[in-house]
Amino acid sequence: MPGRTWELCLLLLLGLVLGSQEALPPPCESPIYCHGELLHQVQMAKLYQDDKQFVDMPMSSAPEQVLQRFKELANAHNHSIPQQQLQGFLEEHFQAMGQELQPWTPEDWKDSPRFLQKISDLKLRAWAGQLHQLWKKLGKKVKPEVLRHPERFSLIYSQHPFIVPGGRFLEFYYWDSYWVMEGLLLSEMPETVKGMLQNFLDLVQTYGHVPNGARVYYLQRSQPPLLTLMMDRYVTHTNDIAFLRDNIGTLALELDFWTENRNISVSLGEKSYVLNRYYVPYGGPRPESYSKDAELADTLPEGDREALWAELKAGAESGWDFSSRWLVGGPNPNLLSSIRTSKFVPVDLNAFLCQAEELMSKFYTSLGNDSQATKYRNLWEQRLAALKAVLWDEEKGAWFDYDLENGKKNQEFYPSNLAPLWAGCFSDPGVVDKALKYLEDSKILTYQYGIPTSLWKTGQQWDFPNAWAPLQDLVIRGLAKSPSPRTQEVAFQLAQNWIRTNFDVYSQKSAMYEKYDISNGGQPGGGGEYEVQEGFGWTNGVVLMLLDRYGDRLSSGTQTAFLEPHCLAAALLLSLLLSFLPQ
Ligand SMILES: *[C@@H]1O[C@H](CO)[C@@H](O)[C@H](O)[C@H]1NC(C)=O
Ligand SMILES: *[C@@H]1O[C@H](CO)[C@@H](O)[C@H](O)[C@H]1NC(C)=O
Ligand SMILES: *[C@@H]1O[C@H](CO)[C@@H](O)[C@H](O)[C@H]1NC(C)=O
Repeated sequence: MPGRTWELCLLLLLGLVLGSQEALPPPCESPIYCHGELLHQVQMAKLYQDDKQFVDMPMSSAPEQVLQRFKELANAHNHSIPQQQLQGFLEEHFQAMGQELQPWTPEDWKDSPRFLQKISDLKLRAWAGQLHQLWKKLGKKVKPEVLRHPERFSLIYSQHPFIVPGGRFLEFYYWDSYWVMEGLLLSEMPETVKGMLQNFLDLVQTYGHVPNGARVYYLQRSQPPLLTLMMDRYVTHTNDIAFLRDNIGTLALELDFWTENRNISVSLGEKSYVLNRYYVPYGGPRPESYSKDAELADTLPEGDREALWAELKAGAESGWDFSSRWLVGGPNPNLLSSIRTSKFVPVDLNAFLCQAEELMSKFYTSLGNDSQATKYRNLWEQRLAALKAVLWDEEKGAWFDYDLENGKKNQEFYPSNLAPLWAGCFSDPGVVDKALKYLEDSKILTYQYGIPTSLWKTGQQWDFPNAWAPLQDLVIRGLAKSPSPRTQEVAFQLAQNWIRTNFDVYSQKSAMYEKYDISNGGQPGGGGEYEVQEGFGWTNGVVLMLLDRYGDRLSSGTQTAFLEPHCLAAALLLSLLLSFLPQ
């Protein structure tokens, strides 16, 4: 008998040891901000215009107490609490949103960063100076209360201050931060970038992945994986190899998250390829868009609702929330309830991971770890082969999302179709000029105010007529990799178009926006789940990048029809003739 007891004891200890190795906190547990009757009643009562408002409000007392009071209130009204009582309850137990954050002026902010001098057009230079000032408005720091009482806040504590997108987005976001960091490095603020990087690395250490944003209700999903690229940009700028060495293991952990939880195998004939997809295996409405998700689910049979919510979350994980891109080929591609994000192998996601694998190989080489360098080089080569076999279309000259359910590529236009160019994820240099032809064939170069997100007008924000800064960057820097002067000239013209749109709107409204409507001469964008937001982190970052790269040529003047092929040809001919004229 004592022997048996010892065996049991050993098993128990072993269980504890094994269990503790996977001791990641479960994602989104809060009975106030993530699920439960309180969340349901408050969000369905629509007390605020935007569901995000309630889940961003800190509690005034401990959650147990708030829940207890709510239970009493709900019982007193037989679980249908009149609006006024509910409002009173919130006023008593919650604080206004944003209370847990304080403004922060980055310590490394300084006047007149050098890149401003590269901008010849004086109006554009003055504008860039104002965008540089905006970092001070978008800087935020978490108050120490959040560290003392994390259970009272949906905000996740971050040790280091950060730059936020702006508008309704008071916390930092994953993929937005990459373009923000590019801008910050031009503004010569590497210390701010380092702090933001450290925050992301801390999140990976705690949760095993980078959540969509720094709120508990974002923990069930990630966003396009650009952490390795952020590190590369920081290390290239500062040569801070010690920081890389200290954190390379955490970068590897983040990529493991995608390998282990977001992999998908595609069989083509005899061969099968492993790629990645966006996928969130959690049901329930998104807390920050609760009533919209609940009402959308009401249009479906009860048995289909959890799957819908999981697909909506996967759509949010893709960064494209929402878009016809995730509805194509579905039962009713006009309705958001047809969303099936996880049924596609996305071009951009796999391009981002491809780039991350190549960078990891480079990092490990620089740290003298050859075996790890080889491992990532092999992963990169496998992914190159898989991208070519599954996503590349030789006839069209572009990559396309692979539709797993229908066993074919989705040949609609999206700027993400060119993400492998941007990510350097191709072996044949000829693909860049094929991509230019693809853009011409798709008539994308006829849009003078920016590259549209898709060619479908659905009312969703990641569709026509909206144009987004990061997608301009994907195409412009992708094309600029071409050795051909003509392709490079098109990249410049696309940059010129985007700069004018942003500059003209800024001249009228003194604000930078999250997205722009390019059907209307370039105006703040619209559509989707919430009002267009001012700020705006990644928009500013991309403008600064373009002004840095093309500052000697960009102009604040009027729009031209330069991109029409015959017009381009005429312009080239004219400039040739002019060059023969006596000076
Ligand atoms: C409470 O509500 C339920 C339905 O929601 C109803 O069946 C019940 O009669 C109500 N009880 C009282 C006391 O009003
Ligand atoms: C791929 O994903 C599945 C779950 O979908 C997981 O069980 C498996 O371990 C993953 N593969 C790798 C190589 O991590
Ligand atoms: C290379 O990295 C791996 C994984 O972190 C580690 O186990 C190994 O000891 C490292 N090798 C060298 C030579 O540093």
